[in-house]
Amino acid sequence: MNQPADILTQAPFTHSAINQSAFRDDLFAGRVAFVAGGTSGINLGIAKRFVELGAKVALIGRNYDKAIQAARSIGSEAQSMAMSADVRDYDVVRAALQSTVEAWGPIDYVISGAAGNFVAPAAGMSANGFKVVVDIDLLGTFNVFRAAHDLVRKPGASMIAISAPQAAHPRTLQAHACAAKAGVNQLVRVLAMEWGREGIRVNAISPGPIAGTEGMARLAPTPEATAARIARIPLRRYGNLHDVAESAVFLCSQSAAYVNGTVLDCDGGASLGDASDREIGQGIA
Ligand code: COA
Repeated sequence: MNQPADILTQAPFTHSAINQSAFRDDLFAGRVAFVAGGTSGINLGIAKRFVELGAKVALIGRNYDKAIQAARSIGSEAQSMAMSADVRDYDVVRAALQSTVEAWGPIDYVISGAAGNFVAPAAGMSANGFKVVVDIDLLGTFNVFRAAHDLVRKPGASMIAISAPQAAHPRTLQAHACAAKAGVNQLVRVLAMEWGREGIRVNAISPGPIAGTEGMARLAPTPEATAARIARIPLRRYGNLHDVAESAVFLCSQSAAYVNGTVLDCDGGASLGDASDREIGQGIA
C-alpha cells in the first residue's frame, strides 16, 4: 500500500529543513545531463531537479512510451528528451549517448540508475534470475559509464552511480542485488582512479529508505511496517526524492570538486544500524 510521501518524510524536529536547497536556481544552466533509468523514482527525481536548475536532460529507459512521458513531465522538448535503451545493450546505450551529444553537445553529468530487483532466496533463484539483476545493475553501470567516457566534457564531468545499502550490508533474499551493488561500488572506485586524471569524477549515491519508491512499497507495505522502520532511523523519517536529488546536485556541483570515488549514503543514518528509542534506552536505563 502506498502511503502519502509528505507524512513519511516529515521530521519530528523543527531544525531539520525538508525540501530546501543550498544551491542557486541556475546552477546547471548550459549543462547537459544523461540519466539512465530516468523514467521513474529516484532517477526521475534527479532528472527533474537538474532541469529545474537549468540543465538539459536526456533520459533512457526500456519502455519508450514511459520514457517520453517522463521527459514531458519534467520539461519541454528543449529541456528534456527521451530514448528507449536497455542498459544491458552497450551499442544501444552508446547510440543514445551519441544522439544526446549531437543534439546538445558534450555531456557534463552522467547518472547511472537503472536497476532490477526481486525478492527471492538464493536457492530459489535460477542462474538466469541472478544474472538478469547483475546484468542490469552492474554490467549496465559499466556500459553507461564506459560508453560515455569519450563523450563527456573534460575536465569537469561528473558521473554518479545509484547504488544501494545492499552493497555494504548483506541482506537475505537479495543475493543478486547485494553482489551487483557491491560490484557497482567497487567499479566506481576503480573508474575514479583511472579517469580522475582526465578531469572526470566518479561517485555513487546509496539511497536509504525513500518514500514513494517501488522498493519501499514492497519492503514496508503497511502503515505498521512503515512506522516500525521509521522508528529505527536516526533522523526518524524516510527520505524523499528531493533528498536524493540534492545529493546528486552536490556531487555534480563545484562544491564537490575534490570529491571522487566516494559512496555517499543519503539515508538519514539508516545504514548505521538500529537507532530506535528501545535500543538507545537500553544503554541509558
Ligand atoms: N523470483 C524468482 N525469479 C524471478 C523473479 C522472482 N520474483 N522474477 C524474475 N525472476 C527470474 C525469471 O524466472 C527469469 O529466470 P528464468 O529464465 O530462469 O526463468 C529471470 O529472473 C529473468 O526474468 P525476466 O522477467 O525474463 O527478466 P526481465 O529482464 O524482463 O525483468 C527483472 C527483470 C527480473 C529485474 C524484473 O523484476 C523487472 O524488470 N523489474 C522491474 C524493475 C525493478 O525491479 N525495479 C526495482 C528497482 S529497485
